[in-house]
Amino acid sequence: MNEPKLEIKLDFITGLREIVLNEISQYANLRVIKEEGDSFYLDFVQDLTEIKHLRSVSRAYIIAQNSKYNPLYISNHKSILNNFVEIIISGNRDKFKTFKITCAGSDSSEVRSIAEYIQRTYGLTKKEEADMKIHIIKLDGIWEIGIQITSRPLSFRDYKVKNISGAMDPTIAYAMNSLCELENANSYLNVFSGSATLLIEADQCFPNLKQLIGFDNNKKYISLAIQNIKKAGLIKKIQLKKKDVFDKPDLGKFDAITSDLPFGMSISKNEDLEKLYRCFVEYCEEILNHGGKLVVYTSEHEMLEKIILKSKFKIIKTLELKFMTSVNAYLRPKIFLCRLKP
Ligand SMILES: C[S@@+](CC[C@H](N)C(=O)[O-])C[C@H]1O[C@@H](n2cnc3c(N)ncnc32)[C@H](O)[C@@H]1O
Repeated sequence: MNEPKLEIKLDFITGLREIVLNEISQYANLRVIKEEGDSFYLDFVQDLTEIKHLRSVSRAYIIAQNSKYNPLYISNHKSILNNFVEIIISGNRDKFKTFKITCAGSDSSEVRSIAEYIQRTYGLTKKEEADMKIHIIKLDGIWEIGIQITSRPLSFRDYKVKNISGAMDPTIAYAMNSLCELENANSYLNVFSGSATLLIEADQCFPNLKQLIGFDNNKKYISLAIQNIKKAGLIKKIQLKKKDVFDKPDLGKFDAITSDLPFGMSISKNEDLEKLYRCFVEYCEEILNHGGKLVVYTSEHEMLEKIILKSKFKIIKTLELKFMTSVNAYLRPKIFLCRLKP
């Protein structure tokens, strides 16, 4: 039996392709060999440290593809699994106590025998919400066997004190900040800061930023954001204020402004979204430095686009995203990168 040819697979949110490619290209050791849907496949690397640091990627796996790797074949050649399991548990044994196999026919005798093998060989317990996630799936006519590299998705961040609905996916926050080209910026404002995902991601990726300010009008979010900021160790660096955008708070001028605009359920019913968006855009016209970047994210993009087109801003680029929310509905938000017209 030949050793499996291992590769790295990276999954990302639909629409973030160029951001992910750009991030990967910053690591000389990482080489993309193919692309399928919203996944990149990379040459295998023994040291997974760089993979685990990728901030635009949702999930990372070690995989091997082969037309033979169906569940029956794997159950007859179970030692193939050792190649995967041993790499990810080496040095991380304490992080992996439970496992799950995702596979069509998961209650078949073949899959049951694979599960028993994992249980017996590695002392792991089978569980639905598992630390170790193994998959045996058929993609475009070829079988793929794989294992997720980390017990949590790569997009999980340690600074999140608790997960709230409406908080931005950190890979999207990373994408928005990288569009701002923050390596050349000093001052950063996040309007509608919520739980502070954008602010924390900005500082962690661009520690050169001298001034990071965020504001939100909701006391509950401000206090959650403070907890997240403290957990990230950034309480001395990030300033948070309780302000309402309708008051156009005077906080100075900024090289970059980012915003995850309220939309859908996250805004109170009485508020007129269009009025809020218009006020936000007018405010940004006044406080963005010339040459600075405004990056905005919303699902109500048609409304926002109309307002921007009538404003002093020029849209430089848009990214169209698509992903499933926790309640299994598709969201199709857009990111707008804008600059003030000369
Ligand atoms: C989509 S959420 C931002 C979520 C944030 N990016 C995160 O990761 O947690 C929008 C935020 O806008 C705030 N907001 C709504 N209306 C506002 C207003 N008039 N002035 C300031 N903040 C407002 C809400 O309290 C909410 O936290």
